[in-house]
Amino acid sequence: MRIWLALAIALLLAPTMARAAPSAQARSLAAFAQMGQVLQSPRCLNCHPAGSSPTQGEAMLAHLPAAPGGADGHGIPGLPCAACHQAANTPVSGERIRSVPGNPKWALAPPQMAWQGKTLGQICRQLKDPARNGGRSLEALWRHMAHDDLVGWGWSPGEGRRPAPGSQAVFGKLARTWIDTGAACPP
Ligand code: HEC
Ligand code: HEC
Repeated sequence: MRIWLALAIALLLAPTMARAAPSAQARSLAAFAQMGQVLQSPRCLNCHPAGSSPTQGEAMLAHLPAAPGGADGHGIPGLPCAACHQAANTPVSGERIRSVPGNPKWALAPPQMAWQGKTLGQICRQLKDPARNGGRSLEALWRHMAHDDLVGWGWSPGEGRRPAPGSQAVFGKLARTWIDTGAACPP
């Protein structure tokens, strides 16, 4: 009797569970697709380039002058990022350039965190990989995306630049959903 009951319950629950699993994964993939609009926006990609030097602007053209990140991302001797990038965005009265972007932590993302030229699936797997994400757990990755103020610069990029889509708060909520539903990655 007890065995039958257990079987009946298992049979009753099985279809529900079978439906629940893909739907969590679908939610996770949907959340990551939304996050992708931020991750693959020029504001983020310009500083997560494929080469050793950043790119700039909406078209993500080579940074002028070339400004290699160097050993620690803060530039090479004689040409540190901080020579031009201040602690905050600095308005300039140029025709082409309306402001020089700025943040106290301004530096180039290291090569293992390069996102340009990669698919969203590749970026996703790289983000989750502690060997390539700065040794971060998923929770630490979430904190960085939701609260780091250099990431936050993407939504206050200074005059003459289009902010990343949405807001850092929305980005943080999407990342929360993505992680809580299994941090699924597109192919
Ligand atoms: C001025 C350059 C710069 C900009 C702009 C920038 N990043 Fe980064 N990013 C970095 C640097 C440098 C690191 C490495 C620092 C560290 O690991 O703490 C990094 C690391 C990260 C990491 C953690 C490591 C990983 O997995 O890649 C995430 C996530 C991230 N950035 C997200 C973003 C997002 C989202 C944006 C746009 C809204 C953005 N970044 C814009 C420079 C930048
Ligand atoms: C000689 C001055 C100078 C140096 C040195 C310099 N930059 Fe820049 N950078 C600028 C100026 C000016 C702009 C704005 C250009 C524009 O908006 O078209 C800029 C724009 C950028 C952008 C584009 C922002 C965006 O989303 O459009 C990134 C990323 C960037 N710099 C990263 C760096 C990093 C990282 C370093 C150090 C490794 C660095 N820069 C060194 C002057 C400099």
